[in-house]
Amino acid sequence: MNICTDVNGVRRTRTFSLSSSPLLWEIQGQITLTIKRLPGGLVTNWMHDSLEEGDVIGLTEAFGDFQIPQPAKPVLYIAGGSGITPILSQLETMAAENYRASVALLYFVRTQDDVIAREALTALAARWPALSLTIIATHEGEAPRYLKDSDLTPVTGLKVREVYLCGPKGLMDLANDLLSQRGVKEQQIHSTFFAPPAQAQLNSDQLGGEVTFTTSNLKVGSEGDANLLEIAEAAGLKPQHGCRMGICHQCSCRKTSGTVVNRLTGKVSGPGEETVQLCVSVPQGPVALNV
Ligand code: FES
Repeated sequence: MNICTDVNGVRRTRTFSLSSSPLLWEIQGQITLTIKRLPGGLVTNWMHDSLEEGDVIGLTEAFGDFQIPQPAKPVLYIAGGSGITPILSQLETMAAENYRASVALLYFVRTQDDVIAREALTALAARWPALSLTIIATHEGEAPRYLKDSDLTPVTGLKVREVYLCGPKGLMDLANDLLSQRGVKEQQIHSTFFAPPAQAQLNSDQLGGEVTFTTSNLKVGSEGDANLLEIAEAAGLKPQHGCRMGICHQCSCRKTSGTVVNRLTGKVSGPGEETVQLCVSVPQGPVALNV
């Protein structure tokens, strides 16, 4: 979700993951956000230093592609550093609802001291036998120790698992490569980004198409790898947006038909109705949007 707050008189919006289950809201009217102080981070440092009990901040609705599979399917989570936060929320929900499939978590941290929510994770693994928890420190040996193929070997039935990735770009790239070598299909892999990853290489010859902005009653042509936000703005429209990098989801809107390519992942959407992020979606043929 996005948090909006005034820091030194200037309105700032930042994206953070909910780390608590929605059940905590239903039972206690509370949510938890796990926010790490970032070196030089304007908003994270302000929150640690200045935010006080009773202060009011703005929150948007929750968004994103991380959804617990329904009906239950086996799941593999691969998290790095603070990428554990959205996964914590899902694990708490699954454990409370006694999720009926096996769940594996590979959690990469620089050192064992960097584990976020160790107590919560250990307690989850203790009371919920479906969860197998593996914590791997990358910087405690002589050489860095990153994700490797053998880390996936103990994960049974890998090919039928839904996989959720959240962490630094290097880890996400490695995981994508190793998973595809082991036959996990692109559609089974869900990623959420904390920082903008390198953009996927797109073949711009196959991109572009007529874009219909249905709410504005406007049709425009597009060519190459211009994204929907750029196309809308070039047509004089002003869709809501924030980061322009695929992180904040403020530009999300409903596509009613047509196919788009995600610039971050290279994935091609289905042809039907769905929510897309304008700033990272490039039309591939005619597209209609509720803008
Ligand atoms: S995701 Fe932030 S503007 Fe598109």
